[in-house]
Amino acid sequence: VTAIAEKVDVQSIKERARKHLWMPFTQMSDVIADDGPRVIVRAEGSYLYDLEGRRYIDGVSALEAMVAGHGRQELAEAALRQYEQVAFIDLFRYASLPQIELAAKLAEITPESLSVVVFTPGGGEAVEVAIKIARQYHYMRGDVSRYKVITRHGAYHGSNYGAMTVDGNYHATRNYIFQPESFGRIAPAPPIPCGVDHARQIEETILRENPDTVSAVHLDPMNTAIRVAIPDDEFLPALREVCDKYGVLLIDDEIITGFGRTGKMFACQHSGVVPDMMTLSKGLSSGYIPIGATVVKQEIADAFLGGAEKMFRHGHTYGGHPVACAVALENIRLIERDGLPERAAESGRYLLEQLQGLGGHHPCVGGVRGKGMLLGLELVLDKVTGETTNPPGKIALTFRLACRDLGLILLPVHPGNVMLIAPPLNMPRAEIDELIAIIDQALLLTEKLYGLI
Ligand SMILES: Cc1ncc(COP(=O)(O)O)c(C=O)c1O
Repeated sequence: VTAIAEKVDVQSIKERARKHLWMPFTQMSDVIADDGPRVIVRAEGSYLYDLEGRRYIDGVSALEAMVAGHGRQELAEAALRQYEQVAFIDLFRYASLPQIELAAKLAEITPESLSVVVFTPGGGEAVEVAIKIARQYHYMRGDVSRYKVITRHGAYHGSNYGAMTVDGNYHATRNYIFQPESFGRIAPAPPIPCGVDHARQIEETILRENPDTVSAVHLDPMNTAIRVAIPDDEFLPALREVCDKYGVLLIDDEIITGFGRTGKMFACQHSGVVPDMMTLSKGLSSGYIPIGATVVKQEIADAFLGGAEKMFRHGHTYGGHPVACAVALENIRLIERDGLPERAAESGRYLLEQLQGLGGHHPCVGGVRGKGMLLGLELVLDKVTGETTNPPGKIALTFRLACRDLGLILLPVHPGNVMLIAPPLNMPRAEIDELIAIIDQALLLTEKLYGLI
């Protein structure tokens, strides 16, 4: 990497990035002022290396995607093999082998009765597909007024217009600019601890909106984007009952939690609940290639059979790209072969214990939560009252930059002061220890800056 830095003109590359790149959810003037962006030129296992020779632990699996870690040769080879056979064929008129095989594999590994797959280019599109299927499903049954989708305050489900309507005032999306009226209806954020009471809160929201107008509840079962408020195993079964009571579909967004992240292949399997639809992306290909999927219950898919008026009129040119499907298939083979869900459960327990240990003596740690390799660390100014900075993202920024400068990449989630820790599932123990040591140091630096020690 140092050799790369010597050979290229680092400043000219960064200058071109600042001039021509518009980065998502990024105030570009901050990037310009900070002499950014950091340019990643190599990745291996849990490590990222930048243009200037710095090394980082990837503590969030590159936006929670790299469940199988960086640099997996097998996935590159799977892509190459498919490129040599059929590089691309659209699914509108024909099918190719990896598309069929992947759909069958997803039907096999998701809960029984989820058995038909719509492919999309990414996660937000899979969310939109689920919402549209829910709406049309009710419509075809004569329930034409069921159009609202219940989400929770703080949730994030995508940036495209349709998916954004079920973002629950996520701290970074500022939905109000784009949609004075939306079909998303916002239930309260999950409390901590989160259990049956939260299912009641969602029920109250359904009742307030009038159940006859509600199409679906859309949620991420581990509340990742909302303070990582991990629910107990009673929550989802209680919510399933609520949905059934009012004829509302349950859409389980496993875009972050799927493919072993929480210690089971899918998070809903912790409580044995079968949703009506599941949305997938990220870990589906371990981030090696863009792909998303909506897996649909057989009886819902069956309702769309017969006659042009029942057709699901939706499609993306690159939904289920054959190369993406081939990579995803190989990725699932690796996840199963290497027992990554089990490894996530074991490493996650260790990581949680270590973080709880740090929480015991660091005054700015307000709480630590986690399930498998999906953990949250809450940063506060006062451990007892839970008071934090205003805005909450202020303390997180201090901490995040301290981590970055010490060689660890983490990500804040709603309401801004909760750091998400979600490393690759196969991260070795020694690297987990290194991650913990950096967090320890970064907490110390943060506490000094805020006068807490
Ligand atoms: C739970 C959840 N749903 C949906 C999405 C949207 O996925 P994408 O960024 O691929 O559109 C995300 C992205 O972070 C997510 O975390």
